Amino acid sequence: MIKLHDKFFKPFISAKEIDEALARMVNEIANDIGDEIPVFIGILNGSFMVVSDFVKKYPKPCEVTFIKLASYEGVKSTEDIQRLIGLTQDLTGRTVIILEDIIDTGNTLNEVHRIFKNEKVKSLKIATLFYKPEAYKKDFKLHYVGIEIPNKFIVGYGLDYDGLGRDIPEVYQIKDTQHMTNLVLFGPPGAGKGTQAEFLKEKYNLVHISTGDVFRFNMKNETALGMLAKSYIDKGALVPDQVTIDMLNAEVEKNADANGFIFDGFPRTNAQAEALDKLMDSKDSQINAMIALEVDDEVLVKRLLERGKTSGRKDDANEAVIRNRIKVYYDETAILKDYYTAQKKYFGVDGIGSIEDITVRLSSVIDKL
Ligand code: IMP
Ligand code: MG
Repeated sequence: MIKLHDKFFKPFISAKEIDEALARMVNEIANDIGDEIPVFIGILNGSFMVVSDFVKKYPKPCEVTFIKLASYEGVKSTEDIQRLIGLTQDLTGRTVIILEDIIDTGNTLNEVHRIFKNEKVKSLKIATLFYKPEAYKKDFKLHYVGIEIPNKFIVGYGLDYDGLGRDIPEVYQIKDTQHMTNLVLFGPPGAGKGTQAEFLKEKYNLVHISTGDVFRFNMKNETALGMLAKSYIDKGALVPDQVTIDMLNAEVEKNADANGFIFDGFPRTNAQAEALDKLMDSKDSQINAMIALEVDDEVLVKRLLERGKTSGRKDDANEAVIRNRIKVYYDETAILKDYYTAQKKYFGVDGIGSIEDITVRLSSVIDKL
């Protein structure tokens, strides 16, 4: 994920895919043109990369030139009118190919046809690397199209967002981070949190981030953050919140395609909850809800003792240990319950019943967010 100005973008089309699309276009165009010497015309600024890579692949002699879209104020209106300028060459009798980076609404193309109306060219063909069929509102023929894309804003490979991004060799697509669904999932030991997280991530295309798993992954793979965390753990000290937040940040960035995240095992303190809010805010996003599965203590004790008989987990075998884990859970949750209640983001869900029943209850909370 990258950030340009205030917006986030996720990887969309690789340099290799662009290269292959260009190669196909070059092939097709070279075949159609034969031995004539075409004039390729790029439209600045966006098309500089397409044109450069295109003509390098073009197998025969050709001419290259550019025209530029410039804003100018209409005499009678304050409306911003775009005009193409810079067409100074005599193109009489020539085969002209317009090389565009992207065709969106087709307004630019309208200008192209307007300025060529009085040019006595032999033929005028339109080639574009990217094309958004859903946005296109004209009926000028597009002779050569590299890649059709959905009607979402892209940057990179010559295309910019308010001046930035033209230099990036791949194409990124805008990401709507504001409408992500980010949950903090809580549940006492034995409440079935793992089972429900599995289901929710499927249903809502969320990524489950279990802090314990993230720590283990980073330490096992000896990432810089993992080694840093380990240095604290080895000393018997708590890992500073900032280290954990940096790891979570890396997980969030790795999963640019997710519709949101389920945070599990984090936050545990007020300070951590604030740090998580800051992290989401830096992504132009937010935590939408803390959902806590509520299960009566006696039911939990019974469930865990039952599980201990078959799982062999030592912490499930002893009733006093179980009761203490439940108590620790409530001590921690109480703080966070207050924190998220103050933001109207706390939702308790009855965790007793069949897996399906509980799933339905969780979904009805999420669907209303
Ligand atoms: P048109 O709507 O076909 O006239 O496209 C106009 C211009 O808008 C293009 O030449 C680009 O400069 C710009 N544009 C359209 N869609 C995008 C996009 O997704 N990213 C960046 N620029 C775009
Ligand atoms: Mg353009």
